[in-house]
Amino acid sequence: MSERKQFRAIKGTRDILPPDSALWNWFEHSAREVFESYNFGEIRTPIFEETSLFARSIGANTDVVSKEMYTFEKKLEILRGAFLQSSSGVTDAASLRKYLQYLAVFVDNLQRGITVGEVSNAPENVEVFSILTAIVVESVARHDNGQSEPDDRWNEQLRRSRILVEQVDIGGGESLRPEATASVCRAYIEHNMQALPGNQKLYYIGPMFRRERPQKGRYRQFYQIGAEVLGQSDAPAIDAEVLEMLLVFFNRVGLTRTTLYVNSIGDKNCRPQYVELLREELRKVKDKLKEDSQRRIETNPLRVLDSKIPEEQSIIETLPRISDHLCDECRAHFAKLKEELNLRRIDYKENWRLVRGLDYYTRTTFEVTAEGLGSQNAVCGGGRYDGLVELLGGPPTKGIGFAIGTDRSILSIEEGGNAPKLSGLAVYIAWMGLASYPTAVNIARKLRAAGLSVELPPEEMKFKKSLGLADKLGARYAVIIGEDEVASRTFTLKRLADGDQKKLAEGELLEYLESERRR
Ligand code: HAM
Repeated sequence: MSERKQFRAIKGTRDILPPDSALWNWFEHSAREVFESYNFGEIRTPIFEETSLFARSIGANTDVVSKEMYTFEKKLEILRGAFLQSSSGVTDAASLRKYLQYLAVFVDNLQRGITVGEVSNAPENVEVFSILTAIVVESVARHDNGQSEPDDRWNEQLRRSRILVEQVDIGGGESLRPEATASVCRAYIEHNMQALPGNQKLYYIGPMFRRERPQKGRYRQFYQIGAEVLGQSDAPAIDAEVLEMLLVFFNRVGLTRTTLYVNSIGDKNCRPQYVELLREELRKVKDKLKEDSQRRIETNPLRVLDSKIPEEQSIIETLPRISDHLCDECRAHFAKLKEELNLRRIDYKENWRLVRGLDYYTRTTFEVTAEGLGSQNAVCGGGRYDGLVELLGGPPTKGIGFAIGTDRSILSIEEGGNAPKLSGLAVYIAWMGLASYPTAVNIARKLRAAGLSVELPPEEMKFKKSLGLADKLGARYAVIIGEDEVASRTFTLKRLADGDQKKLAEGELLEYLESERRR
């Protein structure tokens, strides 16, 4: 008997349905318009990449990489694990047979992997593969010859095959992207974009994936709209323009109850000394800190500054501040950025504790928080990441960007009562009598071609029921087409908000509704 299971979206993921999806489209469309007015172009990157791309750029020690990524282990890696396990306990004929089977399956899959390009065809791999193939052929022949009990020769065979299987370079796994800056930098290098004229100004829109504990404003599949500028210049005017663009966009979509926080976290010349100093000071107060912060003293002391734990706040306030330890270049960069922000009349607050949770940042960091969101109130985060492209094997490159959390932004816009009334259904065609149906189809097509959203009931309905449905669907107008209307070629147009009716000829009807659309 088939089980009647009720499927639900996986925890931390959700469906976005109409009419909410219209709000999402409007939000994303507005971002495109604003970003393109600043000469940004869209980049679309895959939603999964090599795990090591994220580990190298975001940092292997960060929460995002070490705890939250959705990673797919390669099948060959799983088969390797099964083989190594089976080969460690060969004590009788049965376990010897199992070992041989696992070895054969591994070698089979290795061949397939190399052929389809999932596994590197580097000479070392190809050589190991051919030795392993010879071992499999020889072993199967020996086994079929009746030598199916473990002995010294088998043990030696086993030892060699274990070493060889371990030598295969399967390559790292793949992960769903937890963010897109790493992918953009990968693409920049892969497509040699440094050779293109000017700075590369790119934006992206799409889903990201982090296995976080779901709560209001925090999802496992969430959506970001991000922008990145990559090139040779680290002029603070770039940072300021990026922030201006962000705030122009937030203003455009009615996300106005926001605060912009900025900070500079120094660069590779001054940050290491500051981090060491911070670590020393933190060790002195270690006993007063909670477990997470205690651990971070050694792994990543900057992250202690991010702590939201009430008992830790007064201790953190006494710690040394990065702003007092910036090198001359970083200090000048930060001062110039603030000048540029003032020039653009951008309100901001300095927050020396804004260190961000991803490792690639240098100098400028920023975050925007919004009201109405509770604890997950950051609607945008970003900053400078000079040197990241180089770290990923590309040329020396400067970079800065941000990512807006769409889910949270829309939540905040809705809670602030600023969501726009999006037009939705314009015209409902209430037709009755089969003779009027062809005219209804024809009129619907003409109105749709004129850009109006039109609902045409697929089956005949009584006028009363039909108009009731038009109301429920939120249509602004109903066009009434009965047999009389078809005969006289004049149609009744009813405005559903107040019931106002007028009779119009077909041409007048089209003209009238088209002009309504333009309002
Ligand atoms: P992030 O601060 O990790 O930065 O994420 C940016 C924004 O994405 C957050 O401010 C938040 O609005 C949203 N967000 C993050 N995680 C979740 C979640 N689990 N559920 C809902 N929304 C979430 C980055 O991702 C960097 N790549 C930004 C960047 C671009 N820096 C330079 N360029």
